[in-house]
Amino acid sequence: MELQEFEGAATIEKIAALCRRRAFVFPSSDIYGGLGSSFDFGHYGVLLNDNVKNEWRRSLIQEREDVVALDSAIILNPQVWVASGHVDTFSDPLVDCRTCKLRFRADKLEDAHCGRRPSKKPGEFSECDLTPPRAFNLMFETHVGALADDASRAYLRPETAQGIFVNFKNVISSMRVKPPFGIAQIGKSFRNEITPGNFLFRMREFEQMEMEFFVPPGDAAEWHTYWIEQRLDWHLRLGLRPSHVRVRAHAGEELSHYSTATSDIEYLYPIGWQELEGIANRGDYDLQQHIAASGTKLEWVGQDERYVPHVIEPAISVVRSVLAFLCDAYDEEVVADRPRTVLRLHPRLAPVKAAVLPLIGKDTAMVEKARALYEELRRSMSAEYDDAAAIGKRYRRQDEIGTPWALTIDEQTLADGTVTLRDRDTLEQERVPLEGTTRLLADRLTAS
Ligand code: GAP
Repeated sequence: MELQEFEGAATIEKIAALCRRRAFVFPSSDIYGGLGSSFDFGHYGVLLNDNVKNEWRRSLIQEREDVVALDSAIILNPQVWVASGHVDTFSDPLVDCRTCKLRFRADKLEDAHCGRRPSKKPGEFSECDLTPPRAFNLMFETHVGALADDASRAYLRPETAQGIFVNFKNVISSMRVKPPFGIAQIGKSFRNEITPGNFLFRMREFEQMEMEFFVPPGDAAEWHTYWIEQRLDWHLRLGLRPSHVRVRAHAGEELSHYSTATSDIEYLYPIGWQELEGIANRGDYDLQQHIAASGTKLEWVGQDERYVPHVIEPAISVVRSVLAFLCDAYDEEVVADRPRTVLRLHPRLAPVKAAVLPLIGKDTAMVEKARALYEELRRSMSAEYDDAAAIGKRYRRQDEIGTPWALTIDEQTLADGTVTLRDRDTLEQERVPLEGTTRLLADRLTAS
């Protein structure tokens, strides 16, 4: 039977507290009281985000021959968003309450709370006075240039995908590609979400990792299935528990305006099953819209064929992925009568791979050896040197940021040239030769 409850020690509150305590994520503009659902990433958050993006690029671009990279602008010609359908249809149905002045998503009233009687849903309390639903466009508007009038109106992109479609011609004429092939992009997207929340889950400004895979029309269904499997495998290989992941196909009425079929990879966050990644079959909707609006031929012309490709799109945000990895990795246990919080992150995702710790921070000979090892290690992986506080405390700190390996330099190192290698998950300690430690860890990282 499918799980309904998250299995593990994580709650969104505990993850948010750890992220703040350990410099992963800070509330944005904190000293001014913050800004709803905006977050800043601290040192370890930046490293973790980068590792997730690098793994995505590795699997989609580096390890394949049929996907190329792109980095398009955030502010595009506004006609792009008219043609894509976002100006007309990228909206949520909203109702306002004239009594409490709060605004709710009409399709999510079940999950909302009345402003006057939080125990009731909007509309259930006698003083509620809800307006009829109105469409509220989620795109942030701005103006380009000196004049703030209708002619200068532009939008912050709500998805990175359109930057790919409008570059289709540039890519096929400059790169050696032919369908089936993909264009992958990572970049910021912006949505004026009305019900953001749950820490990183729904933000107004977030990085997306999207790939548009262009295929012959007759092969689209097969490629859709292929990409669902590939992406599912990526999440599992990087450590998500199979029992916390499932694939759910959208019902007809749920489909976006551009989609003929979409399946979500859902993750069982501590708040319940939620969309982690969407894999859509966009058909030829976007290319046809841009052909009609721009007058440019966006098609594949082969030796004896000519067609507008269909598109399969895996789309995920860095934050949803990071939040899932954090929830899955978070663990609490008692070791030798003392509580320990540990992030069991996959080594490739861990912000720091190895910590170098001289047992006695004031021992010149130990410090010398430890510094030399640290200098060597950090040339090939992210490493930290720490000589402050008792060794147990230093281990706990590394456990909380998910460092898989700690190397301790002690008296025995000075005598026989070996160091203690401590494993974050098993807590096993082995003696390994100091010489060759960097190679050993690099090999373990590659094999992980
Ligand atoms: N180009 C298709 C597209 O943007 P989407 O389902 O609206 O489709 C794709 O978004 C992915 O972007 C989602 O699966 C989710 O991972 C992420 N995402 C969407 N809205 C988000 C938000 N407000 N905050 C964080 N991530 C979001």
